[in-house]
Amino acid sequence: MVVLRSPVRFRFTACNPEKVTSRGIFDNMRIYTDDPTNEYVRDMAGRLICDITDKESDIAEDELHISYVAGTLSLVKGSLTLTGELESRRRLSKANLEKELVVKACRIRNHEGSIRVVDATAGLGEDSILLAAAGFDVRMIEYNPVICELLKDSMKRAADSMSGVISRMSLSAGDSIEVLPTYEGWADVVYLDPMFPERNKSSLIKKKFQLLHNLESPCASEHELLEAGLAAKPKKIVIKRPLKGPYLDGVKPDYSYTGKAIRFDCIIPR
Ligand SMILES: C[S@@+](CC[C@H](N)C(=O)[O-])C[C@H]1O[C@@H](n2cnc3c(N)ncnc32)[C@H](O)[C@@H]1O
Repeated sequence: MVVLRSPVRFRFTACNPEKVTSRGIFDNMRIYTDDPTNEYVRDMAGRLICDITDKESDIAEDELHISYVAGTLSLVKGSLTLTGELESRRRLSKANLEKELVVKACRIRNHEGSIRVVDATAGLGEDSILLAAAGFDVRMIEYNPVICELLKDSMKRAADSMSGVISRMSLSAGDSIEVLPTYEGWADVVYLDPMFPERNKSSLIKKKFQLLHNLESPCASEHELLEAGLAAKPKKIVIKRPLKGPYLDGVKPDYSYTGKAIRFDCIIPR
């Protein structure tokens, strides 16, 4: 049984496989594990509608599958492995956090108390952990059930060593286009980082992230996502884009923070 000692919060309620745009992952993805009776693995197999096997030979050489071995969840295909790694973030030192553009972009001048951010495209939580470590309260939404599981697993593993940071993060499974409006009254900032087409072509994509592209398609609902963000009535919407990428839904931001390869566009709703 999995025992959570730290206050990790998950809400696995709103996930609707019909809505998931990933490519056929429910048809054939299997879970390989060295612990087939583990309650956590069995629950996950139920949520993902996946079969479990404890025989490595059952998995074809190039088969995209989930692996739960030695208490760690990964997405695996051939020699590529993707594991959520919130704990090993070297960028979490206080000095570095103040330089992170995502942190600067999400700050609100003269705001009293912690700033509440809805990360509506959570992915593996790499931006969210920076925000939580910088003191923001972060609610993450992720609609791909497998990515959600990878993120949940990395939060669980990080909960002991980083309990303070992890306790400022919570994760919901669901489509932000439907869920974001329910954050009206809570969200100070809505953060959006939908996948952009350029990432698919980029030769700079890290090897491990190539695996994510088996599950994720470029965002085809930019207008709906931005409208849902506005419906949450935040003080600010922050959007991560490639440095030279087009504005999300063609909407010109009020201002941007630019880095070497990425840009954070900030929209102040009026
Ligand atoms: C580029 S990744 C985000 C990476 C993330 N910022 C990080 O630091 O790890 C985009 C993620 O948003 C998710 N996503 C895209 N549209 C969504 C939506 N409408 N609702 C919820 N999640 C969505 C995708 O499944 C994918 O995991």
